Amino acid sequence: MGIVGAGFVGPHHVDAVRRLGYVDVIAVAGSSQASAEKKAEALGARRAYASYEALLDDPDVQVVHNATPNYLHYPVNAAAIAKGKHVISDKPLAMTAAEGKKLLEQATKAGIVHAVTFNYRGNPLVQQARHAIKRGDIGKPHFLVGYYLQDWLLKDTDYSWRLEPDKGGASSALGDIGSHWCDLAQHVSGLRITHVLGDITTVLPKRKKPKGSREAFAAADANQAFEEVDIKVEDLASVLVRFDNGAKGSFSVGQVCAGHKNDCQLEVCGSTSSLRWRQEQQNELWIGHRDKANEVLAKDPSLLDDEARRYAHLPGGHQESWADAFANLMRDIYGFIAEGKKASDPHPPAFATFEDGYRANCIVEAILDSARQGSAWTKVNYL
Ligand SMILES: NC(=O)c1ccc[n+]([C@@H]2O[C@H](COP(=O)([O-])OP(=O)(O)OC[C@H]3O[C@@H](n4cnc5c(N)ncnc54)[C@H](O)[C@@H]3O)[C@@H](O)[C@H]2O)c1
Repeated sequence: MGIVGAGFVGPHHVDAVRRLGYVDVIAVAGSSQASAEKKAEALGARRAYASYEALLDDPDVQVVHNATPNYLHYPVNAAAIAKGKHVISDKPLAMTAAEGKKLLEQATKAGIVHAVTFNYRGNPLVQQARHAIKRGDIGKPHFLVGYYLQDWLLKDTDYSWRLEPDKGGASSALGDIGSHWCDLAQHVSGLRITHVLGDITTVLPKRKKPKGSREAFAAADANQAFEEVDIKVEDLASVLVRFDNGAKGSFSVGQVCAGHKNDCQLEVCGSTSSLRWRQEQQNELWIGHRDKANEVLAKDPSLLDDEARRYAHLPGGHQESWADAFANLMRDIYGFIAEGKKASDPHPPAFATFEDGYRANCIVEAILDSARQGSAWTKVNYL
């Protein structure tokens, strides 16, 4: 594999892939030769390239991981596809639904394997919830509710490329973390989001942008010079949602919610029972009942369904985490590639494709359209 962009999440791609034991970390491409060399040394990659084009020319790189800021997702993914490489792109797949659609078409035509890192799918209790719903354990789902809240952009000295539309896209919180929630809700329930009504807010319309670069989640340095800039993208949003089976739902996203670090929660209420999973307590699945006591299923492979058990690697009481779910994702994707399967073959469940990434792009765009129309109900147009 070769990786383009090794800031916050890139090294986690490498870590996850290393756990498989049969993938060589060939190269890192950075924004300059010096930064690529530094990252390659830190990650133990064999080669360092000053540009993604140079990495794509390396015949030893068969799978390209794209962990660059959002504005580079389209060009890097498209160039990798053109070279016939398999592509694992971080989310959001592209800056717009139109770009997402083009990538899906290019990848399909090229016959490469394409994946997007909607990594919460890799959690064993997420798979357990999905199987329980599919089996009918909660009856017919009629309400999906949740949130994805963080606090790393709470202060006006907090800054990221995610706040600049030319680098992050027209949306900040919705594209960055709302896309995860929408994929998770659809994946767990097996339903599709068809209509949305969005209310979006920029809580901090002015921020202090540091002069020089800063990687994601890094705190401001007291000595760093800054300039005050206007912020146009949302850092908070609430969305009403309709699903294709008639179910209703709502979720909120925020990057300015103190105390919430990476707090993604989904609850699915059905005609007989409810299920709730929360990323910050990911080893527990809450099961709500009307006519008997509620339950909490603590992750324990011996208590999980067969389909979910393969996503758990440790016995009960041994906590699994974000990085383990990420590694599960890579196991599903690389297992598929190693078996020589075609992109159109059935996928293991933790493996989200460019089609899923494109769908998430469409949903976020529909929410922004809804907000522009004064929070009108808006159909999600899959172009
Ligand atoms: N799946 C997840 O849970 C998850 C988590 C975090 C981030 N992400 C996604 O991953 C991507 C990266 O986010 P991040 O938080 O790691 O950002 P980051 O800013 O920490 O890292 C981005 C890296 O890309 C490098 N880069 C910039 N231009 C480059 C170029 N032309 N060639 C090569 N490298 C270049 C930067 O120097 C930096 O090291 C984003 O699209 C984000 O949405 C996903």
